[in-house]
Amino acid sequence: MAKKKSSRKIIIQSPKGMRDILAGDRSWWDKITKVFSELKDIYNFDLIETPVLEYAKLFETAMNKETDLISKEMYTFKTKGGDFLVLRPEGTVTTARAYIENNLSHKGQPQRLCYFEPMFRHENTQAGRYREFHQMGFEILGGANDSIYDAEVIQVIYRLLQELKIKNIVLKINSIGCRNCRPNYERRLKAYYSKYERELCADCKKRLETNPLRLLDCKNESCQPFKKNAPNILDKLCSSCSSHFKSVLEYLEELGIEYTLDSQLVRGLDYYDRTVFEIFSGGEGAIALAGGGRYDYLAEKIGGKPTPAVGGAIGVERIVDAMKAQEIILEPKEIKKVFFIHIGEVAKKKSLKIIEELRKKKIAVAEDLGRESLKSQLKLANKKGIHLVLILGQKEVYEESIIIRNLKTSIQESIPLSKLTDSVKKYF
Ligand code: HAM
Repeated sequence: MAKKKSSRKIIIQSPKGMRDILAGDRSWWDKITKVFSELKDIYNFDLIETPVLEYAKLFETAMNKETDLISKEMYTFKTKGGDFLVLRPEGTVTTARAYIENNLSHKGQPQRLCYFEPMFRHENTQAGRYREFHQMGFEILGGANDSIYDAEVIQVIYRLLQELKIKNIVLKINSIGCRNCRPNYERRLKAYYSKYERELCADCKKRLETNPLRLLDCKNESCQPFKKNAPNILDKLCSSCSSHFKSVLEYLEELGIEYTLDSQLVRGLDYYDRTVFEIFSGGEGAIALAGGGRYDYLAEKIGGKPTPAVGGAIGVERIVDAMKAQEIILEPKEIKKVFFIHIGEVAKKKSLKIIEELRKKKIAVAEDLGRESLKSQLKLANKKGIHLVLILGQKEVYEESIIIRNLKTSIQESIPLSKLTDSVKKYF
């Protein structure tokens, strides 16, 4: 007989595609956060935070309803007040919304904004593809439609991956043209694919009608032969898009950033024009670590003024996975912490006050005052990798002193309690 699923088991499971980030992974996340935080200042980006919920209409206006993000992947729900909200699926549309709503264009142009936030997409989960994941994004909005900003966005993302010591970074780049030249290319692409309509996969049959550019993005084995001879978009760009793209590439060359031209790179989100790019680590079949491009029409589409813009985002979980797979060694963090040990009831009574004095002076103190034996408290200090311990016994309480012991060298000294803070600081 089939076993009945226990309801308790369901309650204690995180939702599919969503994970806890536990202390064991903290060192990776801390390193990434630190590098992001340093680079945003060095590259002059301002951090913004947007609500985790947005109106569904915002994304539905920003993108075609046929894109996977809109048709399949949004977590949409109706509130008690009757509004349709979504869990934020990505950061570009929200940043553009915040830029317009808060009149950021008046605060100087262009605005250089960045974010480090969780995103939610109801995707088919697999390695590197989660339903809750985090993105570090860099967006440049407003000002001139200058190709140097495209290069700057790629530069900061590239540098971030380099700082994290990610190996074999491959930047793929393309231009998908503008409002003027792209329709022309799409017509040619449609005409080419129409010849094979009957042989195309079901998705591509749909794309042929709704979003021909995405035909180039089909991963289905049966559609691959048609991609080979499809018209090349780079041959069909208007002169303005062509010179924009050429100068992006020149800036990259000047920066020493290697790139691979990929005329079939089209991106899944459809607010892009001109430059699009993706960054991988490793060869064929590798999953994208970052992606982005220019989105000059997005602000206008969601109700703002025409605003040239370009940006890109890095997937944090994918970076963590890549760093682990590539066995990237993080420098061990220096633990500036003391472990407080008490022996006996008299000492226990005094402990909290002494610990509080240390904490007030910004000294991190670990302890487990619920444990009584010296041995088990020492064991815990060792387990936590803390080498500096403070030991308070009955004798010390009466003498108003305390023992500082270095577990690595086994050297210890007794010092007056009144000098405790200064003595601990000397060890750091
Ligand atoms: P995206 O390519 O959808 O672009 O996502 C950017 C990065 O987020 C991906 O390269 C990947 O590393 C990570 N990512 C995306 N989906 C998942 C997932 N389900 N699980 C884990 N990681 C994922 C955007 O979102 C654009 N807003 C990027 C952009 C910024 N364009 C202009 N500015």
